[in-house]
Amino acid sequence: MSPLIDALPKPLPREPLSTVQRWQAEATSRRTQPNPNAMTLATVDGRGYPAARIVLCKEIVPKPGYISFYTNYESRKGQELAAIPRAAVVMHWDHLHRQVRIEGPITRTSSANSDAYFASRHWQSRLGAWASEQSRPIKSRAALMAAFSDTARRLGLPALSGESNGDPNVAIPRPPNWGGYHLWAERVELWVEGDARLHDRAVWTRELAQDGEGFSGGPWSVQRLQP
Ligand SMILES: Cc1cc2nc3c(=O)[nH]c(=O)nc-3n(C[C@H](O)[C@H](O)[C@H](O)COP(=O)(O)O)c2cc1C
Repeated sequence: MSPLIDALPKPLPREPLSTVQRWQAEATSRRTQPNPNAMTLATVDGRGYPAARIVLCKEIVPKPGYISFYTNYESRKGQELAAIPRAAVVMHWDHLHRQVRIEGPITRTSSANSDAYFASRHWQSRLGAWASEQSRPIKSRAALMAAFSDTARRLGLPALSGESNGDPNVAIPRPPNWGGYHLWAERVELWVEGDARLHDRAVWTRELAQDGEGFSGGPWSVQRLQP
């Protein structure tokens, strides 16, 4: 085990997301894995059946306490979150022997926030957001490429050749069905691998109250869990 990583911070911090932020920054600066901000996002459908997939965590905001990710609002996850706006995520930094679990309610980010993040993306990703009806069936790979080319033409962009790829410098607006979500932290567990399976675990919980478009949180309480 890495000598730098031994256990949870001592004393346990009052709020957990600053530590999550620091752990992600360490995973990024130490280049422990290609996508240190990847996390598994679990949702449930109307039958209570769970589904999980990876998304990228784009923001961790300890106060008021949420994390952000971006996707297609009409994708499978988008439809599940529209029906049941709660989610759970897991982050795992294997080389750092650390795991984070965050659970809570979900809200959409503001249009201004989604616009700003969308504008920062590579033009091909922006094009892809228009061309792909994420999670819907498509006949073939060729049909998908044709949909991309059609969309590029419609938006006045060069055709995708595979090697084209300077920024065409054409404004690509955000599709209305694409944007961000905040996952409001209601329960956060930090886990550090220990010797002989004596892992160090602690869970922070708090009450959330609806507050305008988002939530405000009561004080965190924390307790250690058995491994
Ligand atoms: C490393 C990695 C990062 C990903 N990041 C995102 C992301 O930020 N947003 C997204 O919508 N899909 C992302 N995906 C694709 C999702 O895992 C998933 O295939 C897609 O969102 C469709 O999921 P759904 O059908 O459950 O809605 C990523 C996949 C991987 C492997």
